[in-house]
Amino acid sequence: MNLVGNWNYPTPVRFGAGRIAEIADACATAGITKPLLVTDRGLASMEITTKTLELLDEAGLGRAIFAEVDPNPSDKNVEAGLEVYRAGGFDGVVAFGGGSGLDLAKTLAFMARQTRPLWDFEDIGDWWTRADPAGIDPIVAVPTTAGTGSEVGRAGIITNSETHEKKIIFHPKMLPAVVICDPELTVGMPKSITAGTGLDAFAHCVEAFCSPHYHPMSQGIALEGMRLVKEYLPRAYADGTDLEARAHMMSAAAMGATAFQKGLGAIHALSHPIGAVHHTHHGTTNAVCMPAVLQFNREPCEGILGRAAAYLGIEGGFDGFCAFVGGFNASLGIPMTLTELGVQNPDLDSLTRSALNDPSTGGNPVEMTFENTRKLFEALL
Ligand SMILES: [Fe+2]
Repeated sequence: MNLVGNWNYPTPVRFGAGRIAEIADACATAGITKPLLVTDRGLASMEITTKTLELLDEAGLGRAIFAEVDPNPSDKNVEAGLEVYRAGGFDGVVAFGGGSGLDLAKTLAFMARQTRPLWDFEDIGDWWTRADPAGIDPIVAVPTTAGTGSEVGRAGIITNSETHEKKIIFHPKMLPAVVICDPELTVGMPKSITAGTGLDAFAHCVEAFCSPHYHPMSQGIALEGMRLVKEYLPRAYADGTDLEARAHMMSAAAMGATAFQKGLGAIHALSHPIGAVHHTHHGTTNAVCMPAVLQFNREPCEGILGRAAAYLGIEGGFDGFCAFVGGFNASLGIPMTLTELGVQNPDLDSLTRSALNDPSTGGNPVEMTFENTRKLFEALL
């Protein structure tokens, strides 16, 4: 397979099967001499993780790991991680895993030597300028799923354990210094996670594409990202060892996150509070929300998604696109409703308030109000 490349946009990416072998060199390039590998509990004992630790150890970089990371990582995980990081005298992180592991790792590197508390750096206005850039340690990111795209992002999503709200911590220096995209690391992903994470990438592309902000570069990336998901997610889902499909999905994930600098929208605005309160899988929740959100955004998106449909080889313009999404979800085992997803007795008023506070809300092409957003939640049950 010749899907190999060295990319410098939006950050240096070493792409290709087997390139995890370059992990020690990637640390050296990032200026890391004593890395802490940060991942989630589930991955900690898996072979891809222990092999990566061995590679680091063989290169004299030690084999330190922190894996006390919840599926929706919280401020408590950050606190525990910082204690380990600071006590161990580490000088950078290897962010290893899916969205949870990557986001927590990036947040640890960001907080490494800050003196202010975490929530002072929430992504509001120019709060990121409160951070001391010299107190941020370098990050080497290694995704093991294909969805979040956090490996090429400048933020981490952390749940406030008191308010159960997902908050974005943002700083330009949270962009990993080096990324290793090795599709072999994703072959062990179970079907449901392959589908959920892949559809997260798809939601990033669709929402970025529809967001009204001006960013034509994102527009192009989002469109091709959608095509890769449409062509290759069914193959990766059907056969997890299809390395070509896994590789294209890994690209689509990085493309989705690159594109959503343009903005996200109602899918993520709804999905974040549902995940924070009901602990549902992020990408799967997005997939459940997408059909209703497409209808919600019909008026401003009819033309633009009609053009996307034409590029994707989908007949019937906007309606064809919506029909495609419904069938795609069904073919990938995605529940039709939030109830089916496992959301029990939701407090719709509270979820609506959180959705309206979510930073993604501002990127939705239709203005979200309390009334129309609550109705949207109702339609999804
Ligand atoms: Fe997402």
